[in-house]
Amino acid sequence: MSEALVTFNQLSLSFASEQGRVRAVQDVSFTINVGQTIGVVGESGCGKSVTAMSLMGLLPPQAARIDGGQILFQGQDLLRLKPSKMADLRGNQLAMIFQEPMTALNPVLTIGEQLCEPLIRHRGETPKAAWAHATRLITDVGLARAESLMSSYPHQLSGGMLQRIMIAMALSCQPKLLIADEPTTALDVTVQAQILRLLRDQARAHEMALMLITHDLGVIAQMAEHVVVMYAGRIVEQGPTADVLRNPLHPYTKGLIAARPIPSERRRRLYSIPGQVPDLAALPPYCAFYERCERATDACRAGIPPLIGQVRQAACIHSTLVEPTA
Ligand SMILES: Nc1ncnc2c1ncn2[C@@H]1O[C@H](COP(=O)(O)OP(=O)(O)OP(=O)(O)O)[C@@H](O)[C@H]1O
Ligand code: SF4
Ligand SMILES: [Mg+2]
Repeated sequence: MSEALVTFNQLSLSFASEQGRVRAVQDVSFTINVGQTIGVVGESGCGKSVTAMSLMGLLPPQAARIDGGQILFQGQDLLRLKPSKMADLRGNQLAMIFQEPMTALNPVLTIGEQLCEPLIRHRGETPKAAWAHATRLITDVGLARAESLMSSYPHQLSGGMLQRIMIAMALSCQPKLLIADEPTTALDVTVQAQILRLLRDQARAHEMALMLITHDLGVIAQMAEHVVVMYAGRIVEQGPTADVLRNPLHPYTKGLIAARPIPSERRRRLYSIPGQVPDLAALPPYCAFYERCERATDACRAGIPPLIGQVRQAACIHSTLVEPTA
């Protein structure tokens, strides 16, 4: 039986804006099991990063408001933890890497200084032990000449090398969960594949759960056991990745699959979903996908479709009409 590590339970959160409240996340519920890789996919602005930031306690406190729900981590609700306790968990049990490693690194400190700092602070290592440990971590993430990299500054490294350094930094305290938010988008395809392989190997080696946020369903197919599809702040579909990709139940998931770039002709798409994600400050009181949906009927304007199902879940009143393809 898989053991739950993190459970999002009906999370809703919003931001204040001049146009009104931006409902960035609504009624989001999903579980990440110990050691599991879960993919979160959806178009830009659908609430993927904000969901991750809420788990890390990194939402901007003045602008963001939790409207309801819980994020349970080992039985405690992260949303109600004191900031000092949350800071202890972050970088220790919970870690995150971003699309742009440069923004997370300090340009005036060497890689070594930055890698040693959490080892000294969170793990109580002596500076000498931390230096040796950090050098090992650099080697573990597949970088050669670790000693010389320790004395280098971030601008002296390539994007792929920096992302490996970020992974080393995230792994340094052996987190139970690593969130990777578009970790390879800024990298070329060969380096992308190497970084993904590194993440997968490290997650396996350390029984670490991975929450992988991406636009790329190909990455999800390759990496994640479970996929969560977000649209306009809500989960519209989730389930075991192979099942969801083989037999999507929600028209939005079908659209994302149809809009996948062709791997052999990288950037080319045969199809893109018409229209745009609606303004989250002015969401309709019915299915947010209505305007873009090929299957929409008048009944879809009756209310917000609930997310129903057990292992497979979808939020579409017509999802039972979608025939299995297998
Ligand atoms: N600090 C903020 N203040 C106001 N609104 C915000 C803030 N941060 C995020 N939002 C809004 O929350 C919504 C969800 O944003 P989020 O960054 O989670 O999207 P995303 O799915 O990660 O998109 P992308 O794929 O582009 O990274 C967006 O409409 C965004 O404008
Ligand atoms: S509820 Fe209706 S509009 Fe919404 S996704 Fe399903 S068919 Fe489309
Ligand atoms: Mg994002």
